[in-house]
Amino acid sequence: MLETYIFRPFEATLETKRLVLRPMLESDFDSLHRIFIDTKVMESFDHPPLTHEQMKRWLKRNLDHQNEFGYGLFSVILKQTGELIGDCGLEMMEDLGAAELGYDFRSDFWNQGYATEAATAVRDYAFDVLSLPQLISLIRVGNIASKRVAEKVGMELHNKLSRYGTQYWQYVRKRPQIKTEAK
Ligand SMILES: CC(C)(COP(=O)(O)OP(=O)(O)OC[C@H]1O[C@@H](n2cnc3c(N)ncnc32)[C@H](O)[C@@H]1OP(=O)(O)O)[C@@H](O)C(=O)NCCC(=O)NCCS
Repeated sequence: MLETYIFRPFEATLETKRLVLRPMLESDFDSLHRIFIDTKVMESFDHPPLTHEQMKRWLKRNLDHQNEFGYGLFSVILKQTGELIGDCGLEMMEDLGAAELGYDFRSDFWNQGYATEAATAVRDYAFDVLSLPQLISLIRVGNIASKRVAEKVGMELHNKLSRYGTQYWQYVRKRPQIKTEAK
């Protein structure tokens, strides 16, 4: 029987002025867990810090997504120190028919423009390399820092929606049209 599961390696690495975004690895577990046991980060999700088991499931889901779609969340590395300080990337929301641009950073690195710098690179990668038609961001109503990042990467508030009992602002940005020369 033909194998129906298509393995698509996720090999892209993006570089910005201060950051390297590379595909997430299983060996990133401890650095990523540090983000998701950060109480300030988890307050944004109204969720207690992730247990070891919850974090294992979170990481497996993202690695499986990378293999299925050929893109996913990048691990974000600070060039200056080599530390993993966040995640930023794409997750296909099949029920909404679009990839979500998402980001989570350790709170000791907030408000220095890192999420915006990473999200801008991912936005350009999504449109210029993957040719995705649009990106969305689902932001819990009241998450002002996340909303600001979405605005700074040029997304616009589209609507408010409820998903699994939580209210979200849905931000959208469509791929810019390529201008063709007038004859
Ligand atoms: C959202 C998040 C990734 C932003 O990361 P960051 O690196 O601090 O983002 P940036 O520095 O690029 O931009 C943050 C912006 O929010 C603004 N901001 C932060 N807190 C704010 C507040 N309470 N009120 C108003 N503005 C606020 C900052 O001033 C900055 O905007 P500015 O450049 O116009 O001044 C980070 O806060 C985070 O990891 N939060 C927890 C996880 C999360 O919410 N993820 C998103 C899920 S949708």
